[in-house]
Amino acid sequence: MVSLAGRLENKVAIVTGGAMGLGEACARLFVEAGAKVAIADVNDAAGQKLAAELGDAAIFVHLDVSKEAEWTAAVNKTEAVFGPVTVLVNNAGIVAVKHLAEMTEADYRRVIDINQVGTFLGTKAVIASMRGAGGGSIVNVASCAGEFGMKHFAHYVSSKWAVRGFSRAASEDLAKYHIRVNVVIPGTMDTPMNAGLTPPKRQAIKRFARPEEVASMALYLASDEASYCTGRDYAVEGGFSNLVGEVMMDDVED
Ligand SMILES: NC(=O)c1ccc[n+]([C@@H]2O[C@H](COP(=O)([O-])OP(=O)(O)OC[C@H]3O[C@@H](n4cnc5c(N)ncnc54)[C@H](O)[C@@H]3O)[C@@H](O)[C@H]2O)c1
Repeated sequence: MVSLAGRLENKVAIVTGGAMGLGEACARLFVEAGAKVAIADVNDAAGQKLAAELGDAAIFVHLDVSKEAEWTAAVNKTEAVFGPVTVLVNNAGIVAVKHLAEMTEADYRRVIDINQVGTFLGTKAVIASMRGAGGGSIVNVASCAGEFGMKHFAHYVSSKWAVRGFSRAASEDLAKYHIRVNVVIPGTMDTPMNAGLTPPKRQAIKRFARPEEVASMALYLASDEASYCTGRDYAVEGGFSNLVGEVMMDDVED
């Protein structure tokens, strides 16, 4: 196993949706790499349990990413305990499955509020702190669903395309403050979000991603190793994007 020691030394990170799944994997990896981490989530019980397990390098902060006032409180608490925020992982997200003909405005807005507006609010909330620290890195979590269309996912697909577009624009505005903004695009992961689903069979790597395989990319983008990376998408998806080509070769044996 490669040593992560020191790769995030002196970094102060907020990881949203940090109590479970990919966010939990980021919190664990970031602490191992030397960061101080605020685990920000609506799931207080799971978040507090993880923070206690990770010890002095982690705290839990209650945060619903769709609520601006809660962002202010979360950033203030993180700064009070660890100092200025230098890394933000906008990871919290929800999925819902519904045919467009049945989708209500409330259904649509709920997904957009958390996945898309939450990313905007988080980015806004850390700008002053990162400027005070001399710069920072924001890692926004999109999805393969934000590169294609998918049936019964109009709200989710829209939100994830938006995260990618927002990140490119934000990287332009924030460059003058030495804040980098990038996107991680996970393929299907072995997380609570996919509980009960079957692993992918047709892509090149025929299994779910372990969340830590995707968290490794977030760690790289959060670190100073990625000092020349901004405004781009970084996919960790086991060959998912080649599925279109695979479909054309349906009759050819592996
Ligand atoms: N699971 C996948 O296969 C997959 C694939 C592509 C992209 N993604 C994206 O990766 C991210 C993480 O997914 P996951 O699989 O770890 O999900 P998960 O459902 O396993 O965990 C999500 C976490 O976010 C928290 N959360 C939900 N709503 C919140 C809110 N309003 N404010 C704060 N926290 C909130 C949950 O409590 C939970 O701890 C999401 O943005 C998701 O869209 C997931």
